[in-house]
Amino acid sequence: MRKPFIAANWKMNTDSGYAAELASSLAEKIKGIDNVNVAVCPPFVYLQKVASCLEHGGNIYLGAQDVYFESNGAFTGEISAEMLRDVCCSYVITGHSERRHVIGESDELINKKTRAALAGELLPIFCIGELLEERENGKTNEVCKRQIEKGFEGISKQEALKVTVAYEPVWAIGTGKTATSQQAQEVHNYVRGLLADIYDEQTAAEMIIQYGGSAKPENTKELMSCPDVDGLLVGGAGLKSESFSEMIKITAEVYA
Ligand code: PGA
Repeated sequence: MRKPFIAANWKMNTDSGYAAELASSLAEKIKGIDNVNVAVCPPFVYLQKVASCLEHGGNIYLGAQDVYFESNGAFTGEISAEMLRDVCCSYVITGHSERRHVIGESDELINKKTRAALAGELLPIFCIGELLEERENGKTNEVCKRQIEKGFEGISKQEALKVTVAYEPVWAIGTGKTATSQQAQEVHNYVRGLLADIYDEQTAAEMIIQYGGSAKPENTKELMSCPDVDGLLVGGAGLKSESFSEMIKITAEVYA
C-alpha cells in the first residue's frame, strides 16, 4: 500500500519567528503519527531554522520550494540541490504553477530542475495542472499529458519512484475552489495511466500522487478517500499548525 504524503508549501510567507513557532508546534501536535509522511517547505532563508526546530520533532521532513539545475558556479541568486542537502532538505518542489505561470518556467527548465534534484539526492515533488481556461476547453488531459511526458524525460524507472507527482489544478490554488473529489480522482487515475505508459504498471502503482488546490481540513477526508489520491500539497491551510495537523490526523484515520 502507498504511504500517504502530506506536504505544506509555505510559499513566500512567514518570518523567522513564526516559521520556528509553526514548525515546533506542528511537531508537537503530530507526535506519534507514523502512518503518514509529512513535509514542510519553508522559504530558503528559514530552512536551517526550521530544520533545528524539527530535529527533536520526529518524523517531519524538510523541503525547499525551488532548486537550480547546476551544482555550483556563477549563477547569482540560485541555490543548488547540494546546498539544499547541506541544510537537511529531503524534498524539493519543482514545476509549481506559480513558477510556471508567474515566473515563467518552461517544461524544459522544470525537467532540468527535477533531474538535478534527483542527481543531488533530493526527492522532487513535481507539480502539474491545468489553467481554468484549459479545463473549460476540455484540455485538462492534454495539458497534464504534456507536463508529465516532458517532466519525466530522461528520468529512469528507479528515479521515477523517488518522485511525488502533485496534481494542482491552477484554478483551485489559493482560490477557495477545490476540485471535487471526482474531478481529482479522474485526473489522478489518468496521470497514473500516463506513468504506466512511460514506465510500467507496477512502477505507476507505487508512485505517490498528491492533490493540491485549496485542500483544507473540511475536504481532507473526501479527497484522501479517493483510490488514486495519495496525499496533499497544502498552501494556505499549511500556514497554521492547527489546520495542517488536523489534515494529517484525518489522513492517518483514513489509512488506519
Ligand atoms: P492552496 O495552495 O492550498 O493555498 O490552494 C496549494 C499550492 O499551491 O500548493
